[in-house]
Amino acid sequence: MAAPSRRPMLAVVLGAFLCSLAALSAEAKVHHHTWDIAYHRKSLDCFEKLAVTVNGEAPGPTIRATQGDTVVVTVRNMLETENTGIHWHGIRQRGSPWADGTVGVTQCPILPGESFTYRFVVDRPGTYLYHAHYGMQRVAGLDGMLVVSESDGVVEPFTYDEEHTVLLMDWWHKSVYEQAVGLASDPLEFVGEPQSLLINGRGMFGCSPAAPGGGAAACNASCALPALFTAVPGKTYRLRIGSLTSLSSLNFEIEGHSMTVVEADGHYVRPVVVDSLFVYSGETYSVLVKADQDPSRNYWAASHVVGRRRKTPSAMAVLSYAGNDPRAPPPTPPPAGPAWDDAAPRVAQSRSLAAAHPDHVLPAPPRPDRTLLLLNTQNRIDGHVRWAINGVSLRFPATPYLVSMKRGLRGAYDDQRPPADAYDNYRSYDIASPPAANGTVASAAYRLALGSVVDVVLQNTAALNGMSETHPWHLHGHDFWVLGYGEGKFEPGRDAAKFNLRDPVMKNTVALHPLGWTAVRFVADNPGVWLFHCHIEAHVYMGMGVVLEEGVEKVSRLPKSIMGCGRSEGHN
Ligand code: C2O
Ligand code: CU
Repeated sequence: MAAPSRRPMLAVVLGAFLCSLAALSAEAKVHHHTWDIAYHRKSLDCFEKLAVTVNGEAPGPTIRATQGDTVVVTVRNMLETENTGIHWHGIRQRGSPWADGTVGVTQCPILPGESFTYRFVVDRPGTYLYHAHYGMQRVAGLDGMLVVSESDGVVEPFTYDEEHTVLLMDWWHKSVYEQAVGLASDPLEFVGEPQSLLINGRGMFGCSPAAPGGGAAACNASCALPALFTAVPGKTYRLRIGSLTSLSSLNFEIEGHSMTVVEADGHYVRPVVVDSLFVYSGETYSVLVKADQDPSRNYWAASHVVGRRRKTPSAMAVLSYAGNDPRAPPPTPPPAGPAWDDAAPRVAQSRSLAAAHPDHVLPAPPRPDRTLLLLNTQNRIDGHVRWAINGVSLRFPATPYLVSMKRGLRGAYDDQRPPADAYDNYRSYDIASPPAANGTVASAAYRLALGSVVDVVLQNTAALNGMSETHPWHLHGHDFWVLGYGEGKFEPGRDAAKFNLRDPVMKNTVALHPLGWTAVRFVADNPGVWLFHCHIEAHVYMGMGVVLEEGVEKVSRLPKSIMGCGRSEGHN
């Protein structure tokens, strides 16, 4: 008697429970992580040295989340004698500008023994990064990837069977302090080219198959050829590739396999098939690779230095096919990579990857309210070699800008304006010769009207040695439209007319090629203070960046945890 009446009851209860589960799973999740940041002895390239680790790992773990989720990372600084701060590269931090992790701009450093909790929403799907943003600490290994998937049911404009992450780095055996002190010395002592390149944190110093006379002979056991992944014939793989090199521009390839580029910095691009991918520090790409080659053998995956004289052996890893030994060296010699000094294919590839996927064009506003022409120069300032933008070499103030600007603390940074639109003598400036003028060191900032449309034209020049380098520029807090790349000196009337306003892709990091210019557009609609800088660790350390403020008065109450350094609130 009781049973028949209970059954529908149970079904109703069960149904309601399942419904609420379904609703829950569609809702945003909160991902909690607790990270101990500490030095450990690591042999990433078979050479043991101290590395800054996340819970003992260098590089750190990949964070995974779904669009709309909240990521909470409690960072415990166990470095004993060193500050830290972690930047979530590519996450715009809308509504949480204090969680950007940029020491000196958005927060005070996290002191040894202290904890700091980053809490932010990942509002866009895509491939992102994280890394230390204090001094040159990134060089010591604190970095990793952050992958945000599309919400359930959202279809991407391509399909694949499986995905893997590929984090590219360069690696030195000297400590971050030896490097930084050398850069600040008069005369400058440059640490030189990296000892190794790493793929997913693995390199082979002294036994790279790509080293002159290299081979497995001198290798110790921990130095086996790293496996990239194992492919099943016929399947398609999405590789989420990110570069967190400190210096090197790279070319990445998988022997015998072409790659279809489908995503850049969290935006879908018009698919482009490439044999090899140029990737600059701070950029991410997704490429699709089809396992369509002879499955009875393995293939090389390689990253090579480009843009600087190649003194570092290329990094090698193995793409194996199912059934083969995943670390068996391929039967062919390792690929040599493109000529390091041929910029033409790099510029051509940058241009070919600058279009958004036709179904995912986010229209750019038709015209800017303001244009910042940023002349990139290397100057000698008070005997020190520094990088400068429009003659100003950036030095972070002791009080984070977000705190001093929001609270109106006077004298906490240099509040004279940086040269507004151009280096005084831009028109007569000879970009092909080393700079004649000196420049100054300052902590100035550009104040942008909230909601305004800003164009930035980055103009490259010859450095003090007469050479012009590649500078990957990264903007915090925003994505920008990539409007164009050009050679030589930007001519406002002529070149702005050629900007791509039809289908420009959005990115957060863009290459400035030797002696060329790069133009981007963004909307200053994210209240806060944001760093825009060259992603080469030594260059930003030597002043290659600008600080942008927009709508700081609209930022809600600042958390106390970002304060405690520099000027205090009472001190007006
Ligand atoms: Cu990934 Cu301010 O940098
Ligand atoms: Cu640079």
